[in-house]
Amino acid sequence: MKTLVIYYSYTGHTKAAATELAAKESADIVEVKDARRYSKIKAFTLGCFAAMRGRSWPIKPLEKDPAAYDRLILLSPVWAGGPPPAFYGLLAQLPEGKHIVVKMNSGSGQSSCRERIENIVKQKGGVLEGFEDIKVSGKDAG
Ligand SMILES: Cc1cc2nc3c(=O)[nH]c(=O)nc-3n(C[C@H](O)[C@H](O)[C@H](O)COP(=O)(O)O)c2cc1C
Repeated sequence: MKTLVIYYSYTGHTKAAATELAAKESADIVEVKDARRYSKIKAFTLGCFAAMRGRSWPIKPLEKDPAAYDRLILLSPVWAGGPPPAFYGLLAQLPEGKHIVVKMNSGSGQSSCRERIENIVKQKGGVLEGFEDIKVSGKDAG
């Protein structure tokens, strides 16, 4: 089964976790990038506001095609209880009918977005095979 690890990371913690996971799973890996990089102030204000409402912001085209993989493992930080707007941008453009695992990284190890993400995956004819909250430790973990 061909697996692609797709991650969004604003301050680097999720990138480290995704890189480690991809090596462990012998999977390919690709980063979700904001169409425009924005400041920390904007992330904590407009970014969190959008995240709470499940709104997506534009992302750059992915450098690997998720349609070419059987299974997708998505990693995201938690912003205001759920994924950042770039991650919603990713979910909006995922191919139909995929088996998806989601791993949310945060300082608290808690999120409140499982149902919302599962609904989006189902609307795309996919299956949410797994959902995990991971507590990140260390400097700036949040
Ligand atoms: C804008 C913003 C909002 C955040 N909101 C939360 C939150 O609601 N709950 C939480 O536990 N951590 C929160 N954090 C902390 C991050 O989820 C945590 O540091 C995560 O590991 C960062 O991942 P990254 O380095 O890949 O961007 C927030 C961080 C940022 C920058």
